[in-house]
Amino acid sequence: MVAKVWFMLKLLMFQGLFTSPPPDPGFDFFYLALQWPGAYCDTKRACCYPTTGKPAADFGIHGLWPNYNNGSYPSNCDPSNEFDPSEISDLVSTLQTKWPTLSCPSNEGYKFWEHEWEKHGTCSESVMDQHGYFEKTLALRDRINLLQILTDAGIKPNDEFYKLKHIKKAIKRATGVIPVVNCNKDPEKNSQLHEILFCVDKSATEFIDCPMPTDRCPYSRIQFAKF
Ligand SMILES: *[C@@H]1O[C@H](CO)[C@@H](O)[C@H](O)[C@H]1NC(C)=O
Repeated sequence: MVAKVWFMLKLLMFQGLFTSPPPDPGFDFFYLALQWPGAYCDTKRACCYPTTGKPAADFGIHGLWPNYNNGSYPSNCDPSNEFDPSEISDLVSTLQTKWPTLSCPSNEGYKFWEHEWEKHGTCSESVMDQHGYFEKTLALRDRINLLQILTDAGIKPNDEFYKLKHIKKAIKRATGVIPVVNCNKDPEKNSQLHEILFCVDKSATEFIDCPMPTDRCPYSRIQFAKF
C-alpha cells in the first residue's frame, strides 16, 4: 500500500515536470513599438536619414520592449551581453529597411540596434538570444501591415487630422488587438501620430490586447504627418 502511494506520488511528480509552464522570464509582456518617421522628423529635434538613404514612407520598428503589468519595465539587464554586430550580419539589410535609424549624425543603424539590444533585449535573454531578438522582432512586424490598415480606414499620412478612437478601431478591426498610441508635438504644437505599440505575450509569439490603456495622445486632432 505504502509502495503504491509512493509510486503514484512519483508518477505525479514526473508528469509535473513535463506539464509545468515555462519558467518566468522576469517580465509580463512585450511592447512591439513601431514608429512613424514623419512624426519623428517633424519634431524639434532634427532627424538624419541613414547612410543607406531615405527610409520608405512606412512604419519602422523602434524596438521590442519587455514590460511589467504595473507599467514599469526592466532595462539594461545584462551589461556583460554586449551587442555583437557579427551575430546579426545575415539580418542587416532587412534591419536597414524595417528598423531604420533616424538619429543624427547619419549612420548605418548599428548604434540604434545596439541601444535597443542593450537596454531592452538583454532583459529577454531567457526567451531569446541576440540573433533571436532581432529576428523575432522583424517577424512580428511582418505580421502587421500597419500603414495599409490605416490607409484602408481612410487614415492617411497627408498632414490631415484624425481621431484617436478611429485609429484604434481600425487597428482592432484588422488585427483583433487593441494597441497603445503615442503622439509627439511638432514645433507648431500639433500632436502627431508618432508611435503605435502592440502588445505581445512573453514568449514573443502572440499579439495580445495591451494590459494598460496608456495612450499618450489627445482624443482628436491627431495629425498624420507626411514623410
Ligand atoms: C513592478 O513590478 C516589478 C516586477 O514584479 C517590480 O520589480 C517593480 O518594482 C514594480 N514597480 C513598481 C513601480 O511597482
